[in-house]
Amino acid sequence: MDKSDSAPRPTRRSVLESGVAAAAVLGFAGPLRAAPPPAQGAAPQALAAEPATPRMPVTLQVNGQARPLEVDPRTTLLDALRERIGLTGSKKGCDHGQCGACTVLVNGRRINSCLTLAVMHEGDEIQTIEGLAEGDHLHPLQAAFVKHDGFQCGYCTPGQICSAAGMLTEAKAGWPSTVTQDLTAAVALTDAEIRERMSGNICRCSAYPNIVAAIRDAGGAATRL
Ligand code: FES
Ligand code: FES
Repeated sequence: MDKSDSAPRPTRRSVLESGVAAAAVLGFAGPLRAAPPPAQGAAPQALAAEPATPRMPVTLQVNGQARPLEVDPRTTLLDALRERIGLTGSKKGCDHGQCGACTVLVNGRRINSCLTLAVMHEGDEIQTIEGLAEGDHLHPLQAAFVKHDGFQCGYCTPGQICSAAGMLTEAKAGWPSTVTQDLTAAVALTDAEIRERMSGNICRCSAYPNIVAAIRDAGGAATRL
């Protein structure tokens, strides 16, 4: 015979009795109680003060102007430009390097300003979309974007134009891309070449054909950057 068959089976009475015993034990231990509220009129306990984030001085050279700032060292270049200097042409699309809306030129090279800290750019020459035109005279890329209708809502446009300016400089210097066929010849600005080099700039309105046409058109003229 199985040993378990000989064990006494719990009866309704034994179950009830064990329940009463458990309740008695818990009653003896007493319920868990919350800390009593402070007495009426007592001063509330002060919260621990957050340590203040130290500020760092940095002078940004933006569009040819010195902009001295005191910033939280975690401030991105994009936020410094937009929130502290008031240059809101550079846009915040994703804030983590995926859309290109924040593209600016630093020492002539295009970068995503949301991915770099302002304090890292002491002494660098920063150029934003606001600094491309010369007075009322549009930069060739700006004029080409207008001519070719290279935008719809326009949110990506400052980043597209700054990126195109940097890209034309790279192509002119002979930097190859992954679609460059002949590494020994000058870079030909084919549509495939432009699309590849501009692939970091997303346009939610899908104005891509017109953007490519604008860059191709301006390619020969945009020599200022
Ligand atoms: S906001 Fe910088 S890449 Fe999107
Ligand atoms: S024009 Fe609207 S996102 Fe590019």
